[in-house]
Amino acid sequence: MNKKQVIIDTDPGIDDAVALAIALFSSEIDVKLITTVAGNVGLNHVTQNALKLLKFLNKDIPVAKGVGAPLIREIMDASSIHGETGMEGFIFEEPDDHLLLKEHAVNAMREVIMTSKESVTIIGIGPLTNIAMLLTMYPETKTAIKEIIFMGGSLTRGNSGVMSEYNIDFDPEAAKIVFNSGVRIVMVGLDLGLKALILPEDSTEIKEMNKVGDMFYHLFKRYRGGNMQNGLTMYDSTAIAYLLRPDIFDVVDTFMDVELTGKYTKGATIVDLEGFLNKESNATVCVDINQIEFKKWFLTSIKKCI
Ligand code: RIB
Ligand code: CA
Repeated sequence: MNKKQVIIDTDPGIDDAVALAIALFSSEIDVKLITTVAGNVGLNHVTQNALKLLKFLNKDIPVAKGVGAPLIREIMDASSIHGETGMEGFIFEEPDDHLLLKEHAVNAMREVIMTSKESVTIIGIGPLTNIAMLLTMYPETKTAIKEIIFMGGSLTRGNSGVMSEYNIDFDPEAAKIVFNSGVRIVMVGLDLGLKALILPEDSTEIKEMNKVGDMFYHLFKRYRGGNMQNGLTMYDSTAIAYLLRPDIFDVVDTFMDVELTGKYTKGATIVDLEGFLNKESNATVCVDINQIEFKKWFLTSIKKCI
């Protein structure tokens, strides 16, 4: 079967790193390009982290540096979660920059999409700034994009604001552009990541699997302040899980948008599960996940990272 043609837009980020490794070692995915976007930490750090990870994984995938700040809002960061560099906990070799393209991420995305023989899936596991810029600057790409699967948003409460999830809260204007672009979107929200927990015994199992598992174990000891006891939220891996195992998700096709002006609700994703707004569906929204199947898939996927 043909491999899925994929661009991954990312802000590594410890959970991004796991999602990237799983995608890169999957026999079903052809990662054509990795693009970096400011999010968890600044653009230079996330770009260096992507290059360091590729060197450690020995994967020669082109990397293109993207946008370094939200379209309008003030920049923020999640260094308290991922560490100052964004991937604290493990000492990576300094990357050689031969994989770093000179083109801006948005131009590199357009090039891949417009020259691909098959439609391309974009996986967004950071703020949606790059993807919004792509759809705005190059609308001709829309018909060549199969779908945009993004980790972001929430059906309930937030992890960045009272009602807002970090990736969307970082750049809600970018999210609005993507949600209203006409390109099919798949929302894999915070609620799923909170269920897809990696427990301490899982982390111990991962540590013994292979050198990649050992590296992740060291990152996990730093992730979210190092509290592994309550389980680790592998948010970004749920987006890769949807790409490869949509069968373990419950989904609803419905209308969704993002709040921009609420006094307390800026960045909140409005998912109209009950159809109150009578608007045409623009999204496939994940509403539940089979936790046991996700865990099995996750552990099997890390085992393949050799
Ligand atoms: O809210 C979780 C998301 O924000 C994940 O993508 C994590 O890496 C951070 O970017
Ligand atoms: Ca991320």
